[in-house]
Order: sequence, then structure tokens, then C-alpha cells
Amino acid sequence: MTDDQLGFSTRAIHAGFDPDPLTGAVNVPIYASSTFAQDGVGGLRGGFEYARTGNPTRTALEANLAALESGRYGRAFASGMAATDCALRATLRPGDHLVIPNDAYGGTFRLIDKVFTQWGIEYSVAKVSDPDSVRNALRPNTKLVWVETPTNPLLNIADIAALADIAHGAGAKLVVDNTFATPYLQQPLLLGADIVTHSTTKYLGGHSDVVGGALITDDPELDAAFAFLQNGAGAVPGPTDAFLTLRGIKTLAVRMDRHCDNAAMIAEHLTGHAAISQVIYPGLGQHPGHAVAQKQMRRFGGMISVRLQGGRQAALDFCSRTKVFTLAESLGGVESLIEHPGAMTHASTEGSELEVPADLVRLSVGIEDVSDLLADIEQALG
Ligand SMILES: Cc1ncc(COP(=O)(O)O)c(C=O)c1O
Repeated sequence: MTDDQLGFSTRAIHAGFDPDPLTGAVNVPIYASSTFAQDGVGGLRGGFEYARTGNPTRTALEANLAALESGRYGRAFASGMAATDCALRATLRPGDHLVIPNDAYGGTFRLIDKVFTQWGIEYSVAKVSDPDSVRNALRPNTKLVWVETPTNPLLNIADIAALADIAHGAGAKLVVDNTFATPYLQQPLLLGADIVTHSTTKYLGGHSDVVGGALITDDPELDAAFAFLQNGAGAVPGPTDAFLTLRGIKTLAVRMDRHCDNAAMIAEHLTGHAAISQVIYPGLGQHPGHAVAQKQMRRFGGMISVRLQGGRQAALDFCSRTKVFTLAESLGGVESLIEHPGAMTHASTEGSELEVPADLVRLSVGIEDVSDLLADIEQALG
């Protein structure tokens, strides 16, 4: 059977590695070796020569990531931002233009706004939930449309298939940052995207114990450009990081189902709560992107954002009073996290078109007992 005939969890657990022929080990070893012996000059035994270029543990992760996203090629990086940086450098040249979401992850915005513009790259901001807004942001020199869906932190939903058509019609490529949805809930390449990017630090790793990133594509030319920069610039994960990420991925589907169950219950509970002015969760019927999310996602994810009736101070108080939800940046781990995007993850957007509301709180709903999460939220809002 080929990988694409197998179910998602079977791929998550098996793709990329068969039991080790030498020892029978069912898990890929952590190949803690920076270099590989050659049988005569150029006589590589397993295709590996130097671990920046390739390491067998990383290769297993890369094959697994490609299988998860139903893509042909996967490349692993030292962080989500290293993957983002590689995707941008592989596809853009001075004088090119890209479209980015009006609520992109703060680090993505910061890299483009503060670094890439220094090298002659131009960008425009669009509302990715509105295809016309993206269409209107295109210019003759647009080479890339960059979207997150759901977006971080406002959980807007972009119609991937519609945006792929718009980008391709303008001769541009569509990149989807699939960090929030994960390939279990949504597979952008099957909807027409050209590149999928991940912070594997989040749901894929899933245990808040490793930082990593990934790029997946079906296009051999793009993959060759990624491989060139991965080796040439060297932002690669070490073998232990690759192992931890692979280990996390094995349980992705069961974790995601529990994240989704818990988040749906919390979103329902918070709807109409006296302390909350708005609950933002794509699974709620009143979310403006609900129908599109239903069309392209298996379920609605583990992230919820809320706006507080009492404004910024109420948001800060909520964040500092929870006991089961840990006040911390990041998301997607088994433990629940709470944060204030305006002061934390998205502080870099202050004063820009991407500035987030001051009364916004983002919840990364973990897989604990939902009764404990609900009780914690109640006491913190109380
Ligand atoms: C949507 C999204 N993309 C990319 C990144 C960057 O990933 P990393 O922190 O692994 O560099 C993040 C980090 O929070 C993110 O939320």
C-alpha cells in the first residue's frame, strides 16, 4: 500500500520509517552524528555525508511530514520562523511583492516588515477571509499570497481553494501556514495551495518540549530551492528535536480530537457570558467563517479568542488569575495556555495595520479534563 492509501493516523505513526533493519528498533534512532563515513571519496553508504545537509532522523521526520500533508516533499527546520524565512527567500527576489493577512502571526509580520523590506521586497495587507480584499491587494509584481487559516490570533478563516485560484490567476503562489489547523484538520495542498508551512513547535510536536518548523510542497522546483537554502543557510533541527517532533506526531489525531472537543465546550460555555463581549471560535454558527471552515476543515481546532467586557485591564486580569491555564506564549501543547496577544505574541504589531485589540485574550485549549478547564475559567473571570 502506498502512503496516500493509508488513513491519517496510520500515516502519522508509520510514514517515514520502517523498523530498523539492523536492530528491529520500531522507532527511528536519534542519529547523533554530524558526519558520515565514506567508502572511498563520494562513496556514501546511506546517502548521508554531513548532518546539516541531511541526517537520517531528520529524513524520517521530513518523509512523515510530507505524508501527513499529502505532499511529495517535506523539509524540516530549526523553528517555524526558519521555515517561514526559507519559504520567503526561495520565492521572492528584490522588487517582488507579497500579500499578507491583516492578523498574521506577529513574528511573520515582523520578519517581512523589518527584514525583507530592507532587501527590496514590498508587501500589502489584506483581509484573508475576504477573497475580494486579497484580489484588490494584488499588484503586477505579486509573487506570493501568504495566509494563515485560522489566523493567529483572531481566528479568521480563509477559503484556501478560492485564494489558490486568485493567486494562480495573478501568476503568484499561495502559501498556507497550517500551524493552527494541523494536517489532521485541513490539508491545504489538496485544496490548491503551493506551499504549506508549519511551526511544528505547536500541535505537531504537541508537548511544548521542542521548537521546529516545516515546509511541504508538491513542486520539485520549490523543494529544490528549499533544500538548497536548508543546507546553504543551515537552519536545521538536530536529531533529538526531529525525534521529539516525530514522537509527538504519532498521537496527533487523538490529541486533536480532544483539543477540538474541549474547545467546542468552552466556546459554548463562554458564549453569552457576562464578562465576555465576543467569543471567536470557527466552530460557532455565528462565526463569519463557519461555513468555509466546515467546507475545508475536519473539525474546528483547539484555539479560542475572547474579548473582555472590561477592556484591556479585564483581559490582563483574566490572564493572571487562571490556575490550570498557564500564562505563557505558544500554543498547541497538551496543557492549556492563556495569553494576551497585544502584550505578548503580537506586541510587534502595535501601531501597524495588524495591531490586535487590547481586550483580546487567546486560549490554547489543552487536553485536560474539560470540567477543570471550565471551573478555572469561571474562577478567573469571577
Ligand atoms: C501561526 C504561526 N506561524 C509561525 C510561528 C513561528 O513558529 P516558531 O515559534 O516555531 O518559530 C508561530 C509561532 O507562534 C505561529 O503561531
